[in-house]
Amino acid sequence: MADIRSNFLGIKSPNPFWLASAPPTDKEYNVVRAFRAGWGGVVWKTLGEDPPIVNINGPRYGAIYGGDRRLLGFNNVELITDRPLDVNLREIKQVKRDWPDRAVVVSLMVPCEEQAWKKILPLVEDTGADGIELNFGCPHGMSERGMGSAVGQVPEYVEMVARWCKQHSRMPLIIKLTPNITDIRFPARASKQGGADAVSLINTIKSIMSVDLDKMTPAPDTDGKGSHGGFCGPAVKPIALHMVAEIVRDAETRGYPVSAIGGITTWRDAAEFLALGAGNVQVCTAAMTYGFRIVEDMIEGLKNWMDEKGYGRLDDFIGLANPNFVEWQDLNLNYVAKARINQDLCIKCGRCYVACEDTSHQAISNAKDGRRHFEIIDAECVGCNLCVCVCPVENCITMEPMTSGVDPRTGLPITKDYANWTTHPNNPNRVAAE
Ligand SMILES: Cc1cc2nc3c(=O)[nH]c(=O)nc-3n(C[C@H](O)[C@H](O)[C@H](O)COP(=O)(O)O)c2cc1C
Ligand code: SF4
Ligand code: SF4
Repeated sequence: MADIRSNFLGIKSPNPFWLASAPPTDKEYNVVRAFRAGWGGVVWKTLGEDPPIVNINGPRYGAIYGGDRRLLGFNNVELITDRPLDVNLREIKQVKRDWPDRAVVVSLMVPCEEQAWKKILPLVEDTGADGIELNFGCPHGMSERGMGSAVGQVPEYVEMVARWCKQHSRMPLIIKLTPNITDIRFPARASKQGGADAVSLINTIKSIMSVDLDKMTPAPDTDGKGSHGGFCGPAVKPIALHMVAEIVRDAETRGYPVSAIGGITTWRDAAEFLALGAGNVQVCTAAMTYGFRIVEDMIEGLKNWMDEKGYGRLDDFIGLANPNFVEWQDLNLNYVAKARINQDLCIKCGRCYVACEDTSHQAISNAKDGRRHFEIIDAECVGCNLCVCVCPVENCITMEPMTSGVDPRTGLPITKDYANWTTHPNNPNRVAAE
């Protein structure tokens, strides 16, 4: 069976699944239950200076759902831990003592002043924790106080605080980045420049979940007012995948360790992040939605898939997908695919037809011999994939590459040659052929 033991920055854990800094890791009780369930590690809920912060006393979470009420996106207006520092430190020490084979990393957020970091770092080091993660990502509440994403959005601050932490502590240092920024590569580069050992991402995305149209209040509502919160859960996974991959392939941060976070719910989600180059993964919303035991499926599923593929260790597939992540201009313009409908699976709902007829390329016929029948018209199909996206039956419509002959839409022969936009005749800035 595949060996999924993980070693991230020298921090060992029996599997690559860590719980992200959030309510699941807020106290010893939770963390012990998580370790019993099989989680490889935790990043403890963010610690701050005493006196502890004060949370609101009403709804602090909101959600968006799919049609089956499956949770797709989650939002919170919660702050960092609201428990005293010494209570957290005592519990962290105890947990690390009792669970030496699990990763215990401590998330920190204190004001952007050297003294504040100098003061808290030795206290954390004394717990025996495996490392620290700086929360430069929280987009609400703390950012208005000059912390969280207010730091993560300024690469110079990221670098400065990273330096302080490396100077005043021997612990491995992870910087947790905010996605509330135009180009994630800049804070990642700053993190590396400042000497931090890794980045983790993403923290939550600034958001308003919904508006109550009776009360005219953004949700969740606190006494008639709502505030922006942080968005996470399955819906943010594509954003997180992109940001992780950007850092992995950036020439300035290539090889820099990344702990991936954002919407990870299944072993497959985790494997995708690892395939793009992440060293391990962290999970929050999925644990809050389904409980700690989801890690059993993650462990089992990842091992089974690795066995199937012949990957003996995580390193055998970490990063394998990253070289295939390219800029648009590098995509092969000679590649041609057409949609194909499996008539045995088709339930004749007509959704593909409506979508293609109204908003795409009128490339699906809806009748044959006076009956409902859905067929692709190759001479019109541009291969856009919209019909696949809207079809309610999995694998009923597939996209099949053309490998020979002539594309009936363009009249051009199919070629195996690769040609991209940089050399295309329509490109006014094309690179002249040698
Ligand atoms: C209720 C809640 C509280 C959170 N608190 C923290 C926190 O204290 N520190 C932190 O770094 N991230 C915090 N996060 C962000 C998560 O650690 C994680 O980065 C984010 O939720 C994305 O992962 P997910 O899609 O698996 O939830 C919190 C998230 C939620 C939902
Ligand atoms: S791939 Fe696009 S163009 Fe082709 S049939 Fe489907 S929706 Fe229409
Ligand atoms: S959307 Fe799918 S199931 Fe519905 S008609 Fe089209 S191919 Fe058939």
